[in-house]
Parts: sequence; C-alpha cells; structure tokens
Amino acid sequence: MRHALRYPGAAPHGEGALGGELWDAGARAVAEDGDDLVAYFEAPTRSVPEGGTWERVDDRDYVSEYFAGLVAVSVGPLVIAPTHRSVTLDAGQRVLWLDPGMAFGTGHHETTRLVLEIMGEIPLAGARVLDIGAGSGVLAIAADLLGAAEANGIDIDADTIAVARANAALNRSRARFTCGAFDAAEVDGTYDVVVANLIAEAHVDLMSSYARVLRPHAVLVLSGIVDERVDMVEDAVQAPLTLIDRRRDGVWWALRLARSEGGG
Ligand SMILES: C[S@@+](CC[C@H](N)C(=O)[O-])C[C@H]1O[C@@H](n2cnc3c(N)ncnc32)[C@H](O)[C@@H]1O
Repeated sequence: MRHALRYPGAAPHGEGALGGELWDAGARAVAEDGDDLVAYFEAPTRSVPEGGTWERVDDRDYVSEYFAGLVAVSVGPLVIAPTHRSVTLDAGQRVLWLDPGMAFGTGHHETTRLVLEIMGEIPLAGARVLDIGAGSGVLAIAADLLGAAEANGIDIDADTIAVARANAALNRSRARFTCGAFDAAEVDGTYDVVVANLIAEAHVDLMSSYARVLRPHAVLVLSGIVDERVDMVEDAVQAPLTLIDRRRDGVWWALRLARSEGGG
C-alpha cells in the first residue's frame, strides 16, 4: 500500500459520491484526514475522479489501520461487527462477524446499509437469495442469518471471493460464493430475492438479465445508485419488473422492485 490519492477539502460532507467513485476505481480504503478525503491504492490508476493529487506513502499498513478503527454497526435486525470488537445484542438482534480485508462491504457504507435495511423488511425465511457483486459477502451472509433457504453470491473479483468465503466460515454460514461476471445464462435456476449493490450504469445494462433470474413475485433490490443517476435507473425498469419503493441515505439511493407473475 504505497499510493494515496488526496482530495483537499472533500471530507466535510463525508465520503458521499466521491467515496463511491473511489471504491469503484479500486481503492482499498477511503478515509478522512482532517478536511481531506484520502483513498489508498495498491498502484496509481488513471480512472479516478478529477481533483485528487497522488502521494507516495510510507510502509505503514493503512488498510489495517483503517479496519482497526472500524466499530460494530447496527442495521435492521443485524449487528455487523469486525472480529476485534465485542458486541452487546438487543433482543432479537443477531451478529454478523465481518473482516472485509481487501473487499468492499463493511456494513458501514450507505449503499450496503440500505440493502440490509430492506432485507430486514422483506420475507427471507425459506427464500432462495442471489447477491450480485458480493464483495465481502456481507449481504449473502446476512440473507443466510435471516433465514434464507439458500444464499449465493457472485463477484467478478477473485480476491473478493476469498474474503467472502472466509467471512462465511467465520459465521458458520451456508452462503456460497462463485467468481465471475453476472450472466443470467450461467445462473442455476431462479430466485425469490436478488440483491445487487453495483453502480447505476451496471443496473441499466443488467436490468433485463435481472428479470431472467427472478421468479414470479420475486424481489429485486438495487443499490449503489448516486443521486443524479437514480432517474436513469428508474427509466430502465420495464415489464416484468415494477418499482415498489425507493429510499435514500445521503446521496445514495436503493430501489426495491418486484417481478410480476407473467413472463416478459
Ligand atoms: C460496491 S461492492 C458491493 C459489496 C457488497 N455486496 C456490499 O453491498 O457491501 C460491488 C462489488 O461488485 C463487484 N462487481 C462489479 N461488477 C460486477 C459484475 N458485473 N458481476 C459480478 N460482480 C461485479 C465488484 O467486484 C465489487 O466487489
């Protein structure tokens, strides 16, 4: 970890959309440093938002430092906790232990929390759940903890799959993870619930593929949608999918959709 990208004055508004773009660009950690937002990369990359300045940083392990600072977070019926913390649970709460390593998905990011919130509100008992873009595995493991009959995650990034599998083992979870880009033709059967925390453009491209892996009356939850792109994703919704609910946290939106009975 020897390369940091600093955005002066960008921190007072939190990570926000800039943080999301930095994670998408491959940042291994995004942290506030005074008023600045700093993203840490293994190597400099060109595909980053404008306005940042590259710095070389010394051999301190920023990723470890970042995760050492993580605290447990409570979302719906779950408490997501890094293994170095102890937790106290309220009645009805369950703990999901998570060491995100190099993968996205600590449970702290708005995009993850929005999906977890919705998952706490929909019937998951006995459901078959697919998590597209599994990252740390947090959503598939949550589905398993919340009673899903089967929870499968897929991610394009092999390193991330190793982290997700380790987290599943940590929680004695039955969630299973496969490496690859989501392709409806490769998916085994159809699902009651599909969650995808990707980016808006990916949702637009994948909308008809999502519909193909959903059973009639199934729920689709889309997250990772920044303010100015929510209309774009909603415009891409078409039969047999219907928009049921939209909710926001800061600049981030999540959409809940349903698949109608018939084909299409
Ligand atoms: C924002 S992270 C979400 C992680 C976790 N699900 C969460 O909610 O915190 C998005 C993940 O999607 C993966 N990804 C992006 N495009 C994908 C695709 N087409 N198919 C499968 N995984 C994809 C990335 O590698 C990354 O791990």
